[in-house]
Amino acid sequence: MDDVTDAWNAVLDAGRLPRADGSDPRGIRTLFAADPARFERFSFRADNLLLDLSKTAIDDRAMAALLELARVTGVAARRDAMAAGEHVNVTEHRRALHMALRAPAGATRGSGGAAVAAEIHSTLSRMHAFTQAVHGGALRGATGQRFTHILNIGIGGSDLGPVMAGRALVNPASPMAALHLGNVDGHGWRALLSTLDPARTLVLVASKTFTTQETMANAHLVKGWLAETLGEGHAASHMAALSTNIAACAEFGIPSERVFPFGDYVGGRFSMWSAIGLSLALALGWDAFERMLEGARAMDLHFLKAPLGANLPVLLALVEVWHVNAMGLNRRAVLPYDERLRRLPAHLQQLEMESLGKRVTLGGAPVTHATGPVVFGEPGSSAQHSFMQLVHQSPEPVPVDFILVARPDHPWVENHRILLAHGLAQAEGLLAGRDEAAVRAEMTGADPARIERLLPHRIFPGDRPSTTILLPRLGPFTFGQLIALYEHKVAVLGTLWDINPFDQWGVELGKALADPLLAELTRGEAAASQHDASTEGLLREILRLRGD
Ligand code: F6P
Repeated sequence: MDDVTDAWNAVLDAGRLPRADGSDPRGIRTLFAADPARFERFSFRADNLLLDLSKTAIDDRAMAALLELARVTGVAARRDAMAAGEHVNVTEHRRALHMALRAPAGATRGSGGAAVAAEIHSTLSRMHAFTQAVHGGALRGATGQRFTHILNIGIGGSDLGPVMAGRALVNPASPMAALHLGNVDGHGWRALLSTLDPARTLVLVASKTFTTQETMANAHLVKGWLAETLGEGHAASHMAALSTNIAACAEFGIPSERVFPFGDYVGGRFSMWSAIGLSLALALGWDAFERMLEGARAMDLHFLKAPLGANLPVLLALVEVWHVNAMGLNRRAVLPYDERLRRLPAHLQQLEMESLGKRVTLGGAPVTHATGPVVFGEPGSSAQHSFMQLVHQSPEPVPVDFILVARPDHPWVENHRILLAHGLAQAEGLLAGRDEAAVRAEMTGADPARIERLLPHRIFPGDRPSTTILLPRLGPFTFGQLIALYEHKVAVLGTLWDINPFDQWGVELGKALADPLLAELTRGEAAASQHDASTEGLLREILRLRGD
């Protein structure tokens, strides 16, 4: 057996074999009882950000096995290869240089080399100058009015990151509001239309490829609206493009001085630090955008330098392996206890599931282990009143990421205390559970028949794992740290699972199949036997209901 197989077996054994004292490897409460210093030993820091892993079942044996797995699978070497600009995205033969987007001028580590750094800093300077010109009023709309609204048209990574960051870091003093058009569903456009004045709207077409059908359909729709309302010939002066495909931007009619490029070494889901973040610079202000890059850079440096056993992205990835592979738990919930992070779960859904939902290894062989789990979430405490029932009492545990922010940016301290109390209580409850004796004590004095009837319903099994990330405060810097932490976790999992976290072939099939269906919907006629009977039946029914 090779080293990697040995290491995997050690991890799986750590998850299933009783410990020397006979205790269950899933028994988190036992671990706390045996080790009063467990929180100190299993919580880790990068700058001012704290990651608490103590409420998982990882003990010394498991941690040693997991770290050995990280060592023998080459996590450090692959991280360094990514930072050095090697073609780690093997199926697309591309680099994965999102770290270079936040490397300061002159940085050596993670900068992608002189040529990449020059390209990135040239775009950053142009974004800065553009932001200043828009804010200062040097750049105005066709009627001479200042721009007050940004409309970002983009989908997937060209939408989710900017939407999430814009909401997380919203600047009430900003001279500009950012709106987002992602879905091709015209209802989305109709809802936005009533809030937009074309004379004061700056439209950003955000598309890495500039070929994504949904985005291009929306871009043409909005361009038509600008032309219709401002006059033919004025649309282009209200538009800019954020893309790697300069030729397609020109063909669409956006002049080169309005095109903000980035390299194909930036994956869509890792792109909010690039030109794709222009809506953020405009809506949050340049200083906040830069500070966000600095926060991400701080996490990059931690990732690049910290030893594996104290490296937050590595540890977070190892916990995922522990839950998915050693414990067989294929779902994870993300609960940010901060309303401003309400789109974080949506961003992580793409970042993690598009990256890690893979069925073959880097070499193309079917994987022999589970890969990325289903990720879902909602802000706490709202989540408590929707899906947390299942997390507490369904037969299958669901590991949870709790994200807590110690200090709010509003004056209503009592609300914030309540919020934090609920966040801490959820994690505590998942761990502690509530056993039969506690339920009986709680129901003392009730009708004995009622107690017996309700007893099983009111028991919580406990020993349910969670991790907690604690931020001192949510601002551009800590937000940058947080998102980079998850990005690097994803890269590490790619190595641990021997899959490519940087491609996304799984989204191509649907795109290809939509083309003939669109043609049939346009013709108003279903082509016989092109589809399975269900698709054909539904298509015919839609045509009938539409009156085709
Ligand atoms: O959904 C697939 C995908 O390629 C994502 O990876 C990407 O973020 C999104 O489409 C948008 O792509 P583009 O920025 O090229 O329009």
